[in-house]
Amino acid sequence: MDDAGSVLMRLTQITKKFGTPPDVINILDGSEFTITQGMTLAVVGASGIGKSTLLNIIGTLDRPDKGQIMFQGRDLLSMKDDQLAALRNKRIGFVFQFHYLLQGFSAMENVMIPGLIAKKSKKMVENLAQNMLERVGLADRYHHRVEDLSGGEQQRVAIARALVMKPDILLADEPTGNLDEKNADSLHALITELNKELGMTVIVVTHNMKLARMMEKTVTIQNGKIIPA
Ligand SMILES: Nc1ncnc2c1ncn2[C@@H]1O[C@H](COP(=O)(O)OP(=O)(O)OP(=O)(O)O)[C@@H](O)[C@H]1O
Ligand SMILES: [Mg+2]
Repeated sequence: MDDAGSVLMRLTQITKKFGTPPDVINILDGSEFTITQGMTLAVVGASGIGKSTLLNIIGTLDRPDKGQIMFQGRDLLSMKDDQLAALRNKRIGFVFQFHYLLQGFSAMENVMIPGLIAKKSKKMVENLAQNMLERVGLADRYHHRVEDLSGGEQQRVAIARALVMKPDILLADEPTGNLDEKNADSLHALITELNKELGMTVIVVTHNMKLARMMEKTVTIQNGKIIPA
């Protein structure tokens, strides 16, 4: 059933299997879900149930075996990989479970990448990146190489990179898994702030119950279906 509010993304009959017979596992099996504009959603559940798989499919990083995904009126699965990459760049911010920062580059450079890919002016991208690094509490780390930052600081760079283009939808896989309580709390606050300020839709995979409780809805995956948790 749909929620009130305008539909941002609709997943229909999504199937995703891994492995080869006889060792096939049905991670998603006819999953249905509607993401409304501006909603905040937590995806919870035991390790291995398919949370990252679902997030990767929503974020167009992986394709399901079957099903349909409509996003802002477009049928995503009929789009080519380069078209999806362009759409991701502008509309979707991703924080990975294992954040993939570019080693050898500074925090600023890492956060500037999405803006440079979108061909925005260097000055503008620098300003946006500075502003976002400041918001995640790294104003004094702009020029540090990411490999010299602590795990939690690297996680915050990854979050700044995901948010710098002010995406329509933020997908975050354990975004505060490496952070101490104080930094986790301030990032949770930042995520809710951006949801309110920009109407940014937020989907987080998390084991952090405090974060899950901050989201309007919580779902899990059971027998390949997305169900309320
Ligand atoms: N590329 C792949 N090839 C084969 N199996 C895979 C692949 N990706 C995921 N799986 C399997 O699918 C299941 C779901 O994986 P997924 O990463 O989505 O779990 P998760 O819920 O995110 O777990 P965690 O909480 O540990 O991150 C796991 O059993 C995993 O081993
Ligand atoms: Mg995972």
